[in-house]
Amino acid sequence: MSPCLIEFKSIGSSELGYITAVQHPDDLPFIIKRVYWTYFTPHNVERGNHAHQHLHQVIIAVSGIIKFSVEGCNGSKTEFVLDNPNTGLYLPPMHWRTIHFSHNAVLLCLASAEYSEEDYIRTYQEFTKLQK
Ligand code: TYD
Repeated sequence: MSPCLIEFKSIGSSELGYITAVQHPDDLPFIIKRVYWTYFTPHNVERGNHAHQHLHQVIIAVSGIIKFSVEGCNGSKTEFVLDNPNTGLYLPPMHWRTIHFSHNAVLLCLASAEYSEEDYIRTYQEFTKLQK
């Protein structure tokens, strides 16, 4: 499966507000082992700049706008804009990502594994070596 946007079901109405729920296996291609969120990221900061060897993630902008530039192992490059809390970005292993945030953005990540620094590819040089 390639990186892609997944539109989740929104339950509710503009009068009452909405709820979105996700569960495996109906809405997610993996079992969630970890959840983390990031917030208060200044809009001029670039985060990410890494890839993961084995980790699968679904990332949601629960607030604000988050822009992802994603590069695959085959050199494919795609831009994704998360601007709706009912939409998740599926990121499979071996994709280099850079991330930009609007000032009010809250990024929620559903991850397939516990935190492991060994799973990170932290330099673009190392990533491009693995591309070959
Ligand atoms: P990192 O994944 O590098 O964040 P970003 O790509 O947004 O810059 O993580 C930043 C720091 O937080 C790094 O020191 C590792 C730590 N961290 C954890 O301890 N546990 C986690 O689950 C995550 C995602 C990060």
